[in-house]
Amino acid sequence: MTALSTLLEKASTTRYSLSIPEMTLLLGLSDPQEIAQLHAAAYAVKLRHIGPYVSLRGLIEMGNICSKDCYYCGIRKSNTALTRFSLDSEAILRLTQQIIDLHYGSIVLQSGEIESGKQTAFIESILQKIHILSQGTLGITLSLGEQSFETFQRWRLAGAHRYLLRIESSNPTLYAQLHPTSHNFQRRVQCLRDLRKLRYQVGSGVMCDLPGQTLEDLARDVQWFHELDLDMLGMGPYIPHHQTPLGQHLTLTPTDITRKLTLALNLISVARLYLHDVNIAATTALQALDEMGRERGLLAGANVMMPNVTDIQYRPQYQLYENKPNLDENAETSRTLLEQHLATLGESILWDQQGNSPHYRTDP
Ligand code: 5AD
Repeated sequence: MTALSTLLEKASTTRYSLSIPEMTLLLGLSDPQEIAQLHAAAYAVKLRHIGPYVSLRGLIEMGNICSKDCYYCGIRKSNTALTRFSLDSEAILRLTQQIIDLHYGSIVLQSGEIESGKQTAFIESILQKIHILSQGTLGITLSLGEQSFETFQRWRLAGAHRYLLRIESSNPTLYAQLHPTSHNFQRRVQCLRDLRKLRYQVGSGVMCDLPGQTLEDLARDVQWFHELDLDMLGMGPYIPHHQTPLGQHLTLTPTDITRKLTLALNLISVARLYLHDVNIAATTALQALDEMGRERGLLAGANVMMPNVTDIQYRPQYQLYENKPNLDENAETSRTLLEQHLATLGESILWDQQGNSPHYRTDP
């Protein structure tokens, strides 16, 4: 057995067994055969814990108004080149009904970060209406940024049971390089702890291939996911956006694209091999780099996809990064295409199921 096979076997057998140097080594694999071995090992762990299944979440991008000014993000507050929009309750409920009719089983409500009494009450009332509309069957994930404990609590009581809040990087120094000083790393971590206390299924994640980020940073991110006892992960490659401070002078070359995709897929595999039973999303950012990026994500160990159901007219206004795919694809075509792609991989979709994180179920 080669050293790599021994390492992969250890990781597959025993979760949390990889050391930081071992994870760093796996993240940095570049030989196609070794990468194939890594992905296959992670996929086998995914099969063991989840089976040959993919869970879907219909993603509604509710609005692009944001109080944050992250240096990498296209919808940051200071981007004045953007028309801001915010869906009303009727539009959100119409899209929710569409997701129910598409049998996706789960919904994600995402928007820019807004903290206000009005926003808390608005989301609360939407959640109550969704509960009635779906007769309590729909999985409901929120991705609405940092909020107070009380707000998280009100939303939990109103029917939300999962929350995504990416840490972007668990290295406070790198975090500080990516955000203005008003953005507080510790507060974001506290939010994740509050969400856990409120018995949400908690999701976080990072971007990879960020300027100044090392492979060891990413290995530590994966270890940090375990420390936070996360149930769900959303990770993707950083993709420059020209209307942002970080991306204004960056244009991706084909070499950049290959490096970013390889690293993002390796990261999914390492996270699967370390954590075993969490839900991992094959994110849209992967698809921005490769038409089959999300499918490749699944074969590297991911098990969740989030097809976008946002109205086509709003999609150009929700460009977190450039080249965001599916600007013109409607939900019905996404659905058929997805099912076809997945069948060729031997994966089937868990229609009408919430697809909760197995990690959450085994919680003490
Ligand atoms: N490239 C890739 N991902 C990005 N995000 C924001 N901007 C970018 C970018 N330029 C991701 C962040 C955020 C999520 C909603 O989108 O990780 O948490």
